[in-house]
Amino acid sequence: MEFRPTKDTEVDKWKEVILVYNSALKEVGTKLEILNDEFQHVHKYNPIEHIKSRIKSPESIVKKLRKHGLESTIENMVEYVNDIAGFRVICSFTSDIYRIADMIASQNDLKVLSVKDYIKSPKASGYKSYHMLVTVPIFLSNRVVDAKVEIQIRTVAMDFWASLEHKIYYKYEGNAPKHIQESLIECARMVSELDEEMLHLNDEIQRLEMEEEKERELKANNTP
Ligand code: GTP
Ligand code: MG
Repeated sequence: MEFRPTKDTEVDKWKEVILVYNSALKEVGTKLEILNDEFQHVHKYNPIEHIKSRIKSPESIVKKLRKHGLESTIENMVEYVNDIAGFRVICSFTSDIYRIADMIASQNDLKVLSVKDYIKSPKASGYKSYHMLVTVPIFLSNRVVDAKVEIQIRTVAMDFWASLEHKIYYKYEGNAPKHIQESLIECARMVSELDEEMLHLNDEIQRLEMEEEKERELKANNTP
């Protein structure tokens, strides 16, 4: 591990920083679970399929700092590495992504620092996902610190695509053969089509269910 604090004071500082990011994962994780539970209660379905979270490894932190020409210090990592604490929220439908994002953005204690909508504007690779950078206050014994958390929200299909693309990207160190790149772009197009088609199907089923419920209510009210 390269990112090795040497002095005792640095070790303490490092431990505290990691404690803060771990706390941020707990705070935001609970918020996401509450939203999912409440949504299930009100709308009778879960917008979130599953949630993954992670703390970035020291190696990856150092790599990112180096990429930006920055020295590996604790100050730099806190200031410049925005995805030390990260969430991946996997939803069933594209509409759920925006619902979750709106619900997160409207929470008073969270501050949204930036949003990148790679669904409306996909990357050249074909990558689609909704990214939010937020801060959450962490209440320590003698002060409050704002911890940055990156939240990536995407559908199951977008996640499937991103996992494979990530694997290929690493295998070829970003220089995959042209036919593979083209194939990935074609898969990304199919993912978008699938997401759209599944959303339409789901909307239709929900509409039917609502109509059936209304009919049942009408019948119940008309029976003496
Ligand atoms: P990073 O330095 O990679 O964090 O990029 P950034 O700070 O410019 O942020 P961006 O929103 O572009 O990407 C943040 C994260 O999104 C990455 O760390 C990946 O997890 C994911 N991501 C972005 N682009 C791609 C892509 O083309 N393919 C895949 N599989 N994941 C991507
Ligand atoms: Mg990243």
